[in-house]
Amino acid sequence: MKSFFQRYTPLQVAIHIYGWSALVRLIIDFFNHNLTANPIQAMEQRTGRHAITLLVLSLACSPLNNIFGWRELLKRRRTLGLYAFMYATIHVIIFIDLDYGLAWSLIIQTVLEKPYIVVGMLTFLMLIPLAFTSFDIWKKRLGRNWKRLHQFIYLIAPLAVLHYAWGKKGDFFRLQGEIIRPLIYAVIVIIFLIMRIPRVRKALASLRNRILIPFRRREPQPKANTP
Ligand code: HEM
Repeated sequence: MKSFFQRYTPLQVAIHIYGWSALVRLIIDFFNHNLTANPIQAMEQRTGRHAITLLVLSLACSPLNNIFGWRELLKRRRTLGLYAFMYATIHVIIFIDLDYGLAWSLIIQTVLEKPYIVVGMLTFLMLIPLAFTSFDIWKKRLGRNWKRLHQFIYLIAPLAVLHYAWGKKGDFFRLQGEIIRPLIYAVIVIIFLIMRIPRVRKALASLRNRILIPFRRREPQPKANTP
């Protein structure tokens, strides 16, 4: 039988630890009354931040593989995306149930009054088909369309950042208020989007190859034929 470390890579272990520990910490803090004076808002904010962080990490896999040639990252995108979806779902449940007590008319009124919530809703609705079709069986069934569908992540991530930034009080252009964190996410997402451009991708891949040349094992040279 394979041992734990033969079965799971350190990256896999790290992702699962992050995925569950954040939730466990939230639950512990909730029961210990360790969540500020407004615990529902604190939970909403924390789950939102975990969702967006995991989403951005899943977005990072492909460009980072491009730079460092770390192919395992491509296998971990799904897990990161599913954890992002899990936190987004908890975030939405907290909003609908704990925050608004399932008062649908009040929820609809709030959604209509606050455009950043409309953006959040759109982001969540777009995440649903991606999460449900992320499994291999759907990859086979959808064929080429699977890739097309999952390219939507490049729209979803900026929308999630917009939802984050718009919900904060501050001025983006004067860099005032609570906009520093959303701005950091925005810059990271923009960098990853730029790295998707085929020319940039090619340039990064060739740069990587040039950097790695000295580290590659030299191929044994064929012996010169002796007369
Ligand atoms: C139906 C969908 C959604 C609703 C109704 C919703 C609602 C909200 C609300 C009300 C807040 C403000 C909390 C507060 O500061 O009082 C918030 C913040 C936030 N949401 Fe959402 N959201 C939705 C979807 C999403 C999704 C899909 C993501 C990410 C993938 C997300 C990420 C965030 C983040 C990062 C914050 C800011 C957290 C902070 O203040 O530090 N939300 N959301």
